Amino acid sequence: MKLSCIGCGPGDPDLLTVKAVDRIKNANAIFTPTSKEGKPSIALSIVKKYVDEATTSITNLIFPMIKDKDSLKLQWKTNSQLIAEAVLSGKKCVYLTVGDPSLYSTWNYLHKEFRQNYNDIEIEIIPGVPSFFAFAAQAKMSLVEGDQTLGIVPACYDLDKIRHTVASCDSIIFLKDGRYFDSVVEILYETGFNDNSVITIAQDVSVDEEILETKKLKDLRNTKNPAGKYFSIMVARKND
Ligand SMILES: C[S@@+](CC[C@H](N)C(=O)[O-])C[C@H]1O[C@@H](n2cnc3c(N)ncnc32)[C@H](O)[C@@H]1O
Repeated sequence: MKLSCIGCGPGDPDLLTVKAVDRIKNANAIFTPTSKEGKPSIALSIVKKYVDEATTSITNLIFPMIKDKDSLKLQWKTNSQLIAEAVLSGKKCVYLTVGDPSLYSTWNYLHKEFRQNYNDIEIEIIPGVPSFFAFAAQAKMSLVEGDQTLGIVPACYDLDKIRHTVASCDSIIFLKDGRYFDSVVEILYETGFNDNSVITIAQDVSVDEEILETKKLKDLRNTKNPAGKYFSIMVARKND
């Protein structure tokens, strides 16, 4: 009666832990998130080479990208029910998530449902390489040094909240949707960055389609959509 949540890392299947691969190879049932009916699951695509499709059932669970809390809660309940039924029937079940499960993951919503409604199911969480550590490795950069502070900010929400974090940190990692990165450029200027501040931006880190580039902040001022995809990361360092 155990459910393993697996951090699948940023995209390269060789960046999974040995424990994660073991759980995936031995699973009877794999549950994996996607945002829409019919849309392939990115987490599943990362681990595909470890899955024995002849002996393992695969269920895509839908987590729609909407903001209506009631609809979302209903969906989280339905998804957790589906997993719980499989666990309670004796199957070895895993839930996949991109990067690490503790960072902006659909797992967080399921975990709350399990704590509230299925306390007798044991939960195991296997960490994964978070996207921004894979990003730093690919860019061959250090995120922070000495007494510097690091902020992690989702770029697609409240700009005032973002301003507060950006003002108080030496390095900032912007996540969640590169299509919003241009909206934070003015905030960087307001909070102590200058024209020559170095900004590193990447899309699809650790897979074949990866794009990684370093720019000056002044070049971003005139760029619409410096990264055009949801799977993007931007890192700004104040004191470089
Ligand atoms: C819902 S969050 C999930 C974060 C994930 N749990 C982690 O540990 O990195 C999705 C965001 O993570 C970032 N992300 C995840 N994988 C990425 C990749 N391979 N390349 C670029 N960004 C990625 C993007 O900012 C994306 O919008």
